[in-house]
Amino acid sequence: MRSRRGCATVDSVTTLRTAEDADWPAMRSLAATSFGSFRPQDATDMWRTLIPPGGAIVVCDGDDVVGMSFHLDLRLTVPGGAVLPMAGLSWVCVAPTHRRRGLLTEMLDELHRRMVEARYPIAGLEASEGGIYGRFGYGPATIVDGVAVDRRVARVHPEVPDPGGVRVVTPARHRERIEQIYDRWRLRTPGGLHTPPQLWDEVFGDREVSRGGDSPFFALLRDDGFVFYRTHGDTERKDVVITKLATASDDAYVALWRALLGLDLMQNVTLRMPPGAPLPYLLSDARVVRTTGREDGLWLRLLDVPRALQARTYAADLSVVIDVADVGRFALEIREGRARCEPSGDEPDVSTDLSVLGSLYLGAHRASSFVMAKRLRGNDTRVMRQLDAAFASDVPAELGFGF
Ligand SMILES: CC(C)(COP(=O)(O)OP(=O)(O)OC[C@H]1O[C@@H](n2cnc3c(N)ncnc32)[C@H](O)[C@@H]1OP(=O)(O)O)[C@@H](O)C(=O)NCCC(=O)NCCS
Repeated sequence: MRSRRGCATVDSVTTLRTAEDADWPAMRSLAATSFGSFRPQDATDMWRTLIPPGGAIVVCDGDDVVGMSFHLDLRLTVPGGAVLPMAGLSWVCVAPTHRRRGLLTEMLDELHRRMVEARYPIAGLEASEGGIYGRFGYGPATIVDGVAVDRRVARVHPEVPDPGGVRVVTPARHRERIEQIYDRWRLRTPGGLHTPPQLWDEVFGDREVSRGGDSPFFALLRDDGFVFYRTHGDTERKDVVITKLATASDDAYVALWRALLGLDLMQNVTLRMPPGAPLPYLLSDARVVRTTGREDGLWLRLLDVPRALQARTYAADLSVVIDVADVGRFALEIREGRARCEPSGDEPDVSTDLSVLGSLYLGAHRASSFVMAKRLRGNDTRVMRQLDAAFASDVPAELGFGF
């Protein structure tokens, strides 16, 4: 229900409205309470510059802010290299005094309505817990493996070349080149995000609070790739923690790994990478690459199904009518990699829900896995196989940066 002051009544005591400048101290405090840590104000101010008008909302109980959320204006690379405006949901918090009364549900209803009005075809987020967002139409769309390489025993396979060209550099002195390489990387990587200048300022500022107790960052640079890493641990036994590895060629990937494996006094090299990354194939003994954990990264919700599905390219032909629960029915025709998608009144071949489409979108998850789980249903096994083949991506999806 909407009052004359533009506030929507959530329940008998709380109201939802657009956040105003004066709300931010209370919002920062609610975020600190919800996530258990305070962030420096200037870092918060940087993220605020990425919020479009009307993109932040609060729920108030009297004078108190008891719920908040905003979305950033981001640019997402999809398979094939097209770039879509993405509403990046963040800072989703409800006060511990007001949990499980539907405040999150009300906030998401309102933010999704605003995103659609602003013509975003897709929304994304990183989830604090895996059980929250599926019900709201988001599906995990990237896969992130935590990996540790025991550098002391890792040997490069004899057939792998040594392209060279890597330099040890002071990152801030090469900012322009690093930004250009990142841009080439993100434009060919599904899940890549355009990084605005103020976010680069934050990266190169390398605040102590962002280091999690590790060292300031080190950088290795080549014409077509770079790696940022920190060191972790005591003087006797240090590990290398890669924070960003971005390459625009196969040679850069090989050359940077050779340099990393040459860090003689370091023990493990740890990183987060998508399954299917070529690292194990560079080594004589692939077991040296140990997977220490698996997480979801980016979650996606298609806000405009035809526009999102038509933006990416596909790996196989397909002709299907999909029923998406609570959203509608769509005819999807894929020929030579390009899709036509429009609302349809025909009998569906396949039925599913929006979160499954989000998971398939960047090619990180396979349709056949959802078929086995009965979350993607249909009688024609040939169509199901075609779905599997069509949505695959030859470049593994990877989130550009955390938000
Ligand atoms: C997560 C959070 C925002 C939920 O807010 P909320 O107002 O209590 O959520 P709602 O009452 O609208 O819940 C909606 C539904 O989601 C479910 N839900 C809410 N939080 C959940 C959680 N953490 N895990 C699983 N289910 C959850 C509710 O049970 C409810 O289900 P129902 O519709 O079947 O009854 C709140 O607990 C919070 O601020 N947590 C700490 C910060 C955080 O993790 N934020 C998310 C950042 S990505």
